Amino acid sequence: MTVHTVAENADELAAAAAGRVVVLASAAIASRGVCRLALSGGRTPQGLHRRLASDAWRDRVDWGRVGIWFADERAVPPDHPDSNYRMARDTLLDHVPIGAKSVHRMRGEAEDLAAAAAEYEATLADPLDVVILGLGEDGHFASVFPGSPLVMERLLRAAAVFDAPKPPPRRLTVTPRVIREARSVLTLASGAGKADAVAQALEGDADIRRCPARMLRTYEWFLDRPAAARLRAPTK
Ligand code: 6PG
Repeated sequence: MTVHTVAENADELAAAAAGRVVVLASAAIASRGVCRLALSGGRTPQGLHRRLASDAWRDRVDWGRVGIWFADERAVPPDHPDSNYRMARDTLLDHVPIGAKSVHRMRGEAEDLAAAAAEYEATLADPLDVVILGLGEDGHFASVFPGSPLVMERLLRAAAVFDAPKPPPRRLTVTPRVIREARSVLTLASGAGKADAVAQALEGDADIRRCPARMLRTYEWFLDRPAAARLRAPTK
């Protein structure tokens, strides 16, 4: 069943998603002793990161028991302004008590991206507990873009991308297999620019190859009002 949470604005969206991360991380830690959490890049998750890193929220997660993974990475060095790792570090990881050894970053700086993907694949044998995803206006998530053969990928868990339509074209990404194997998947979308993609992903009938986010339909979604504006179904 799809659960949409529709917040009034981006700030409330971040608070709602942060609350859910706290609940899911605590449950994972209570049952298995650790929480394997995957982060995404882009603008939308930054409010969630900042909320989790804030003085009021930091202690709600037992960060010493959290491992961090990434849903995707741009092919840039880790200190580059476009690096998803750098964004996560600046907005979250530098502000919570998590050890460097617990952070599994994708090597976006690698010359051989296919080798970096294979290396990352080895860290993904166990399911992720929580995967945070953003949504592209074209219906992509992580770096699984419309028209990409990765939409139908069944065997690999991580892959190199060489022709992403969103710059930069060279990227690393997890595949749909990782999403299917994950215990929870939270997709965040904020702003009117995402309204068509949200409606297509949740209610549309486009081929999944044209709108990869359709495969996220049955998971949890955190939207703000502008992003939810084109949905027909009642939301809570
Ligand atoms: C990336 C992403 C990508 C992102 C969406 C939404 O590295 O570019 O991980 O999948 O989450 O494109 O990005 P915005 O939140 O910036 O719109």
